[in-house]
Amino acid sequence: MFHDRLKDAGRAIQAQFDAVLGARDPLPVVQAMAHATRGGKRLRGFMVLMGARLHGIDGQAAIWPATGIEALHAYSLVHDDLPCMDDDDLRRGEPTVHVKWDEATAVLAGDALQTLAFELVTRPEVGSGDVRADLAASLAIASGAQGMVLGQALDIAAETADAPLTLDEITTLQRGKTGALIEWSATAGARMAQADISPLQTYARALGLAFQIADDVLDVTSDAATMGKATGKDAEAGKATFVSLLGLDEAKRRADALVTEACDALHVYGAEADVLRDAARFVVARKT
Ligand code: IPE
Ligand code: IPE
Ligand code: MG
Ligand code: MG
Ligand code: MG
Repeated sequence: MFHDRLKDAGRAIQAQFDAVLGARDPLPVVQAMAHATRGGKRLRGFMVLMGARLHGIDGQAAIWPATGIEALHAYSLVHDDLPCMDDDDLRRGEPTVHVKWDEATAVLAGDALQTLAFELVTRPEVGSGDVRADLAASLAIASGAQGMVLGQALDIAAETADAPLTLDEITTLQRGKTGALIEWSATAGARMAQADISPLQTYARALGLAFQIADDVLDVTSDAATMGKATGKDAEAGKATFVSLLGLDEAKRRADALVTEACDALHVYGAEADVLRDAARFVVARKT
């Protein structure tokens, strides 16, 4: 049931990317954008769609911010994989953009995916001017130097830091790097309905942390063939992760506790929010 719905959301988001990017000149940078937006679990877009449904928002409106956040996420991955960042050759089972094209194309495709995200979340179909402005402003804050970019900067700085980061520092790093976009995804539907975002915000803060802990655990326990991206690289690069600080077992235990915390935060929605509870459990049970 949950997996079918996740798959359906993934298909709808892919169809939207095909329509939007297929209508543009097939320049290398546009082909690179299409490449970077293919595949993946689509969890962030799925959370937008499910949060919108929970607030009675039409799927035809929600598909735009759902596709928008996946464009923004794809940009963050293209840049994360660059030689000056994590230097990765494989993403979603395919060569990374800078390998398939070149570094300049990867930088530009990332730039254009970022602006595409704002184009999509502000489409007229999404709602009133107020709603679209709120989605764009909150996405800007979540993506930038107070959010995802902050987390990425702390992540890179930690590689060469003299002392290992503390638990608080790692939490701040991960809240930005992964948490901010997940928080935006989970709250976008409430924003569209101009409803209270706080229950979903609490849910997403716990879930975002659990998500990145799972990513760090999989980096140690899985392999490239399963993950579609290189593994074992965090320790090699001296990354600061929950696993590097707490060890595998304690990191997993914390992720499980965070999932419980996330599910509990949804009590105001009752059983209507069960699909988001399933999403929280999926985040730590996932194999990719
Ligand atoms: C990977 O995100 C990058 C992190 C923030 C850990 P995902 O695991 O959601 O990647 P895709 O979209 O499924 O490829
Ligand atoms: C990337 O984190 C997070 C963002 C792109 C914002 P990681 O570097 O851990 O992601 P993977 O493991 O390469 O997917
Ligand atoms: Mg990284
Ligand atoms: Mg990386
Ligand atoms: Mg990782």
